[in-house]
Amino acid sequence: MLDTLGGAAGRSGPAPGEDILSRLAARDDLTVREIAATGVLLLVAGHETTANMIALSTALLLRHPEQAARLADPAAVPGAVEELLRLLTIVHTGVPRLAVEDVELGGALIRAGDGVMAMLSTANRDDRLFGTEGHPGADEVDLARDARRHVAFGFGVHQCLGQPLARAELQIALATLFRRLPGLRLAVAREALEFRADALIYGLRALPVAW
Ligand code: HEM
Repeated sequence: MLDTLGGAAGRSGPAPGEDILSRLAARDDLTVREIAATGVLLLVAGHETTANMIALSTALLLRHPEQAARLADPAAVPGAVEELLRLLTIVHTGVPRLAVEDVELGGALIRAGDGVMAMLSTANRDDRLFGTEGHPGADEVDLARDARRHVAFGFGVHQCLGQPLARAELQIALATLFRRLPGLRLAVAREALEFRADALIYGLRALPVAW
């Protein structure tokens, strides 16, 4: 279908507005296929990620009510969200990179042209960075930890384009949820929760709750 539209020349419809899809659609240097693919990328990258982060964070905070209580302080919410992004690292399959020159890393030589998978979850559990004095090891949740150097949004020029939006959504959703529903609890046994270990974006298949 997209192919038969025949690229930019085949487009018609209402005048574009101010939104990102309209602005993409108005461009003559992109084909319909490229515009559609970018739209799908924005939808998947923008929805799957935050939806799963909210569900996973909620499940984790329900296990650690003393941590959830920290969200009552608005000043603590941004830092708390950074810690949740770090610990949960939902892009758990890592991000692909190609070496443009020979690089030595941890005693191993990566040659120009070699592909590598950078495992964000491993970096985010590095005790040398996050297991600092006065805080538990990096495998534990501590909403009071300074987790700002995490790489849950990737690193470099292709790091996540939606990170300010994702941060805003998570800060608003989690703080509001725990403030408005203080009696929030799991509606099933914790062992019954199914995790999306096989999906590109880690998360929960469902999070049944009651309040
Ligand atoms: C908790 C939420 C999110 C997480 C953890 C996340 C994580 C990531 C990661 C790890 C990457 C790859 C970065 C790299 O290769 O270095 C990425 C890329 C991207 N993300 Fe997100 N993301 C989130 C939310 C969003 C949202 C809300 C949007 C859009 C509205 C979005 C749009 C994108 C796009 C377009 C890219 C590709 C950027 C590029 O290749 O230049 N993401 N994201």
